Amino acid sequence: MIKESRRKAIKIAVLGMGHVGLPTALGLAELGWDVMGADDDAEKIRTLSSGNATFYEPGMQPLLTKHLGGRFRVTSDVGRAVADSSVLFVCVGTPQAESGEADLSCVEAIARTVAANLNGYKLIVEKSTVPAITAQWIKRTVIRYARVSSNGHRSNGKAPSRHSRLKPAPEFDIASNPEFLQEGRAIENFFHPDRIVLGVDSARARDLLEEIYQPLHCPIVITNPTTAELIKHAANAFLSTKISFINLVADICETVGADVSSVARGIGLDPRIGAQFLSAGIGFGGYCFPKDLRAFIHLGEQNGVECGLLREVEHINKVRIDKYLKKLREALWIISGKTIGVLGLAFKPETDDIREAPSLKVVRALLLEGANLRLYDPQAMPNAQQELQEQPGRITYCASAYEAARGAQALAILTEWDEFGTLDLAQLYSAMEVPIIVDGRNMYDPEAVRNQGFEYHGIGRKTAGHAISPSSPLKPVARRRAALTAT
Ligand code: UGA
Repeated sequence: MIKESRRKAIKIAVLGMGHVGLPTALGLAELGWDVMGADDDAEKIRTLSSGNATFYEPGMQPLLTKHLGGRFRVTSDVGRAVADSSVLFVCVGTPQAESGEADLSCVEAIARTVAANLNGYKLIVEKSTVPAITAQWIKRTVIRYARVSSNGHRSNGKAPSRHSRLKPAPEFDIASNPEFLQEGRAIENFFHPDRIVLGVDSARARDLLEEIYQPLHCPIVITNPTTAELIKHAANAFLSTKISFINLVADICETVGADVSSVARGIGLDPRIGAQFLSAGIGFGGYCFPKDLRAFIHLGEQNGVECGLLREVEHINKVRIDKYLKKLREALWIISGKTIGVLGLAFKPETDDIREAPSLKVVRALLLEGANLRLYDPQAMPNAQQELQEQPGRITYCASAYEAARGAQALAILTEWDEFGTLDLAQLYSAMEVPIIVDGRNMYDPEAVRNQGFEYHGIGRKTAGHAISPSSPLKPVARRRAALTAT
């Protein structure tokens, strides 16, 4: 329970209301703090202030409904939010620049806004994933711009003129407190973190952050800001490495007739390895891993560190899409003119986020090859529809998995939503023209699916089992195939 006096003393602003900022702000409000959520995207703020979450995240809408107008308020006036608060969580986007490095212009803009609104002690907390030494740049930027001209007017974030008499800005601290939230589990992750990392260089900053997170019981790693920044990069790079590793193992499994799911279980039970992030599939995507891996490689190589290991992680991930397409081609022979049902468009389950989604890469490649696609995703349809606008004609957006399967000559499973695992296989079978499943996420038990008459292809599993054994008479898949060839 947070004391009323402390709640009043520590006013928090979360700057940037995206996939990190909004769950963080609502989580902090739920812990008992007063939080101002700020974003210069007025449309986003209008949506939030009308009580609607701007993207899908399990458990988020109820928190918004509960706290909006109470402990959580929103504004598009970022400067005002800075002026009214003492702790500023910076959650703005750090997209990838052409060169591969992180584009930090939004972070710089925030630093300047802070500088222009320094009206007392501020703790600036980096939450966005940023390259090491960004905290030092924020500090430098704030000092550079946070000067008050001799007539008492603020510099408004612009560099001071040579002629103005300047005096030092009020005190502030920079801290790095990287987030480890996973989309689709962000709220759960916020309240049950494995650890909290605090990169601080003053006792005041450390005490404030420890107090803010005090209701969460987990190990706290206290270090300096640069090390904290690196912890975040290393964590994402390591997790990406785990995924590429198991995907490499999957390829080897296919060549020798082993099963990657059992290999993953067999190695994952060793606590030194750990069971998570060992699901083979069509590779990792999303806003974070591909971009953060690139930025980490860039950081290393810029500083003369050989990053071949991480480059290979990236390469293995890139070719996952080609390998999956090859499986589809092997199953269908000719892609052009075929109807393929696609289950899953989001980059992972429990989100509507399609940024860098491997599924969309597959969709685009299939469209290029001339396939007709029947698409379904439980949450990401509107985003996909917007993204694929340039591809009219050969796409049908479907209201369910069964509808996506209707008349299809193959079903491509690209995102492992729980609901795909519990589909009625008999219903799927009768909906499809040719019952072929190419399971990019190893959702199904191959034997169970084959027993239902499907031809099934997974990732890193025994070579495709066909419903026809060499000696058996024509089974359903073959019959349907024969029918298809005849038309
Ligand atoms: C990731 C990290 O897991 C978070 O800890 C971190 O805070 C976040 O990035 C970030 O930097 O903001 P997120 O991108 O939301 O979270 O999603 P993940 O659950 O990590 O999945 C990333 C991708 O890896 C997805 O495309 C997923 O399908 C894929 N993946 C994951 C696999 O292919 N196999 C696995 O075993 C696990």
